[in-house]
Amino acid sequence: MSFEKEKILRLERKIEILENMVESKTRVLYQANQKLQNEKMRVGAYQKALNRSAVVCSTDLNGIIKSVNSNFCELSGYGESELIGNNINMVSSGSHEKDEFRNLWDTIKIGNIWRGELKNQKKDGSFYWVDSVILLLMSPEGEQGVDFISIAFDITDRKNAENKIEEQKVQMVRESRFSALGEMAAGIAHEINNPLTVIKTCASILNRYIGSNKLDPEKIKEHAENINQTVDRITKIIEGMKNLSREVESNERSSCGVEEILDDIFGICGEKIKSIGISLEVDVPENLKEKKISLHRIQLSQVIINLLNNSIDAIEESSSAWIKLETLLEDQKLMIRISDSGTGIPEEVQKKLFDPFFTTKKIGKGTGIGLSISKSIVDKMEGTLRLDQDCPNTCFIISVPVGELS
Ligand SMILES: Nc1ncnc2c1ncn2[C@@H]1O[C@H](COP(=O)(O)OP(=O)(O)OP(=O)(O)O)[C@@H](O)[C@H]1O
Ligand SMILES: [Mg+2]
Repeated sequence: MSFEKEKILRLERKIEILENMVESKTRVLYQANQKLQNEKMRVGAYQKALNRSAVVCSTDLNGIIKSVNSNFCELSGYGESELIGNNINMVSSGSHEKDEFRNLWDTIKIGNIWRGELKNQKKDGSFYWVDSVILLLMSPEGEQGVDFISIAFDITDRKNAENKIEEQKVQMVRESRFSALGEMAAGIAHEINNPLTVIKTCASILNRYIGSNKLDPEKIKEHAENINQTVDRITKIIEGMKNLSREVESNERSSCGVEEILDDIFGICGEKIKSIGISLEVDVPENLKEKKISLHRIQLSQVIINLLNNSIDAIEESSSAWIKLETLLEDQKLMIRISDSGTGIPEEVQKKLFDPFFTTKKIGKGTGIGLSISKSIVDKMEGTLRLDQDCPNTCFIISVPVGELS
């Protein structure tokens, strides 16, 4: 073969190899392009879905709005042209603490995602709530942030419903206090009738003495003393009523002794317990007597009364019924155990014990809110209320933090 021919053949082979290479690269490119188109379509679909469902906006690093979607305009009440170019603060409601916003900016500035609930203000002055995710969009090189993106969901309805539930809870607590008071008012007849009978009897005896001219100063002193003490007892009962009917909206603690609380409570329902024939044992250890502690006096009394009422209802018809109330101060916590002669609570009932409106009592006898309200009161005090599973009888344990004073 001539030299020239050989050269042509070699060139032809090279061209063939190059052609193959071009063909294979073209195939790869074609496939990559196909993939890109698919991804583009997918991202487009996500974007469409996101825009339909979420409230989206982007701002520059100074919070100046760069883009908003139609949901943002609809929710905030502002038109797109009113929003773009303005600071995102224009929808802020001013209801969040400065610290909350500082935390938000600190989180997103360093490239982390912030998630939280924000209360914003519409153009018409009303408020709306969003559950937001805010993040920093990085430059294509990934070196620096360029925009902030916020993707949010309107949760105004949920927030309003939550607020309503909270208001209803406050209302229920108020009503349950009054229903407890109503029960007490019925019991108060017992409480005050007895001392009144004592006063009446003493007064009649004194009257008779004076009429018969047999004036024994010692006897007169004894009866006068009896009247005095009985009036003190009535005063105590009324004091307890007054204490328990005070408004309990404020979450402030007051300083008092455990025995003072128990006086309020048993001044009101002690006689009822006695008259049903339930024996009552109250145990206050020496280290708690005369000690002043700081706690939510009225709320705690209300919880104890609810538990006592439950015990009374459970055992009032049984023979040799008893209720025991024990107190203990440990690690800045006041523990109150209320046990009764019942034989515990069946498992199916235990599961729903603290559910609102769960009751096993007859219509008109129980509404099923006593324990659920008691639990929310104790939760608010950052304490606990639970059924003691280890007790062979029925026993509830309240534990609340106290600030010890003296
Ligand atoms: N000491 C107890 N012994 C037996 N069962 C109890 C006791 N305490 C609560 N329960 C059960 O728990 C249920 C719920 O109690 P809760 O105090 O919430 O409502 P209630 O007493 O039925 O009604 P309300 O307190 O509104 O008058 C009661 O119906 C009862 O079945
Ligand atoms: Mg109850």
